Amino acid sequence: MDSSYYDLIFKRRSFHRYGEPDGLKITPEELDEIREMWYKFIPLFEGIQTKIKIVPGSQTSCNRGEEYCILIYSEKKPGYLQNIGYIGEQLDLYLTSRNIGPLWFGVGRTKERRFEGLEYVIMMAIRKVDDSKWRDPNDLSSFKRVTVEEMWEGPVIDGVTDAVRLTPTACNIQPWKVVNNGEGVLDVYRYRRPGKHGIIPPFRLAYFGSIDIGIFMLFLDICLEHQGIEYDRVLTPDDGNFRQLNLNAKYTLRN
Ligand SMILES: Cc1cc2nc3c(=O)[nH]c(=O)nc-3n(C[C@H](O)[C@H](O)[C@H](O)COP(=O)(O)O)c2cc1C
Repeated sequence: MDSSYYDLIFKRRSFHRYGEPDGLKITPEELDEIREMWYKFIPLFEGIQTKIKIVPGSQTSCNRGEEYCILIYSEKKPGYLQNIGYIGEQLDLYLTSRNIGPLWFGVGRTKERRFEGLEYVIMMAIRKVDDSKWRDPNDLSSFKRVTVEEMWEGPVIDGVTDAVRLTPTACNIQPWKVVNNGEGVLDVYRYRRPGKHGIIPPFRLAYFGSIDIGIFMLFLDICLEHQGIEYDRVLTPDDGNFRQLNLNAKYTLRN
């Protein structure tokens, strides 16, 4: 994993509105680099084909002042949504490092439902932004997140628990929970947090929650690696059901 990702967790943000045009543009070279990078990011599941297509924002329903939208496609195999969350969040952090403002855009619509044999999953809006537009890594007050107690049971891990709490999620519903048994095993659940659905209709909760949990596992992996904690991760199939707790992975820490 790229070691620069850890610091970017504290800097990144969603650009819900980009504001009036300011002359800053994404260059063709930057677009080419994004297309190349997508295939260099580490997948969560091996063997699920994914692709991206970059289109002008005007070809989608986004309309937040973005310049382009990155349409993300995948084969529909078990774990494909978690996989898109895991890879897509590497893209989100990479864009942050390049002063390209991202917005995961789950409600977006495109006519391009298929691309080179793969199914449309989600889009990410982008526009070049000024360096001053990011979060100040020393001031975490703009992160609206549940408390550690609401998302982590058992002993906390310094440099990990506090940082994974900052994971972005659709509608900010934060559908994840970790149970640390205190003996080096972390169970990671997709969690139906009582009373917290945002505007996501119930039938879409598992869809976005699965992408969210993939993003969460990326943050967990970045943080464990940053702390020098080695681990084995066993991914467990999430059947997308409407249970309160859906196990998605078991991490066994080695040191
Ligand atoms: C999978 C996913 C889908 C999202 N879809 C939308 C969306 O449709 N519209 C929107 O305004 N924000 C969307 N967001 C952005 C979230 O609202 C945002 O990540 C969350 O409020 C946390 O804020 P932050 O990213 O600035 O830390 C989405 C985020 C994720 C991870």
